[in-house]
Amino acid sequence: MTDNHILVIFGASGDLTYRKLVPAVYDLYEQGKLPEGFALLGSSRTEYSDEAFREKMRAGIEEFARRPLENDALEEFLAKLYYQAIDTKGEKSYGKLKSRMDELDEKHATDGNAIFYLSTPPSLYSVIPKYLASHGLNKENGKWRRLIIEKPFGYNYETAHQLNHDLLAYFDEDQLYRIDHYLGKETVQNLLVTRFANGIYEPLWNRNYIHHVEITSSEDIGVGDRGGYYDSSGAMRDMIQNHLLQLVGLTAMEPPQIIEAHAIRNEILKVFQALRPIREDDIATHTIRGQYTSAEVKGELVKGYRDEHEVPDDSRTPTFVAMKFFIDNWRWGGVPFFIRTGKRLPTKVTEIVIHFKQTPHKLFVDECDMPTDMHNKLVIRIQPNEGTLIKMGMKVPGAGFKVEEVNMDFHYSDLNEAYLPTAYERLLLDAMQGDQTLFTRGDAVEAAWKFVDPILEAWEGEKSDQIPLHGYPAGTWGPDVADQMIGDGMTWRYPCRNLVEDGSYCEL
Ligand code: BG6
Repeated sequence: MTDNHILVIFGASGDLTYRKLVPAVYDLYEQGKLPEGFALLGSSRTEYSDEAFREKMRAGIEEFARRPLENDALEEFLAKLYYQAIDTKGEKSYGKLKSRMDELDEKHATDGNAIFYLSTPPSLYSVIPKYLASHGLNKENGKWRRLIIEKPFGYNYETAHQLNHDLLAYFDEDQLYRIDHYLGKETVQNLLVTRFANGIYEPLWNRNYIHHVEITSSEDIGVGDRGGYYDSSGAMRDMIQNHLLQLVGLTAMEPPQIIEAHAIRNEILKVFQALRPIREDDIATHTIRGQYTSAEVKGELVKGYRDEHEVPDDSRTPTFVAMKFFIDNWRWGGVPFFIRTGKRLPTKVTEIVIHFKQTPHKLFVDECDMPTDMHNKLVIRIQPNEGTLIKMGMKVPGAGFKVEEVNMDFHYSDLNEAYLPTAYERLLLDAMQGDQTLFTRGDAVEAAWKFVDPILEAWEGEKSDQIPLHGYPAGTWGPDVADQMIGDGMTWRYPCRNLVEDGSYCEL
């Protein structure tokens, strides 16, 4: 059940509101998931009339919503949209916002409940909550008030800690919804179900049976027009500190006692607290950073990172990061985790691969052509071709015992009801329902920063020159040295190694 409420979006003239947020709210409306008493109030500095805002959002919905647009749903939905221009940095403006909220509360029976979505530059994350509070808009008193913010949650541990401190001065932790859109992905949530609804995995899910864990999140696009933002961020802050570590958290966590926000988030926090800090001496070998250079990709010349808009010619910002690390607890003692992410790699794919240990005695290797490095793998594909796959040895029919690796796979697309809600749809609905499970908690954000901070300090500090920044041609899987990271004759899984040239097909 979703209570009646108003959704106030700050930064409503921006791209996120246009492309993701409002289309996702429409999708919810079209499926009957919004409450009877609902209004959406967009706000930002730019002046729009309600009508102009609705027309702009209509275009966004027509382009990006995933549910049907026929019937009256779109017109009915647009009639619930309003706009109020305010100077977000001026305290007095919030009086106007409050009056508008009161007016809409009456008109749409929103019961005084409100969600404030900060789709703004992070510099406003400390300002807006303060002024909301100075107008009493943070106070619950029998109704509820929630605040949603988007990454980045700080730039390092210190600023993340400060941000939490600033937020908690005006809102309680249980009013705060920090979005990591990876947690909103259906397949990421399925990781919990794969692990905890199936008895067969749990006994194997530990150091006794797992050789190593590999997580890849690659993108084929470059930084596009986000060079200015990206150059001050880089792959570590943009992807690893948040999305990839969340995937590590869900892969490595202990079973929670119940499926509930506190229980799950406590277990994720424990994983982050158990991440073994990478020692200064190991940084050059346990972390590989790279930057894409110009190359021909699928017949087209692609710019190098340093030639991208708003990127300095001598930038040392990594667009690729691969890392090896350990989790110091009983379940994972001695099991290496390898994670990597990058822009301008051959394809877009996010997957978690659990590599099981080989059989203790290799019966079929010498006589039967079994590849010496063959071992079982469980591939959990987050995107695209969402699904899971187990790789196992099978006897090739005929004489002898020739062994071949085959796949046992499940694809979401095989389900009849295959509508996968977008991450924003899922997360907005959860916030409307007061379920914080898929939102990151302040203490976990800080713990993740504590792990990556020393690496960033080494990369960006005085000795930065001693740690290589490898160039890699656009359209390749990153620097060659990253290949050697795994060792034991193994390398990363390259789901599309031989397939990317002629299209986007990627094995799952
Ligand atoms: C964002 C990053 O958080 O995630 C982007 O800022 C990145 O740089 C994006 O492209 C990837 O998300 P997805 O859902 O497309 O894998």
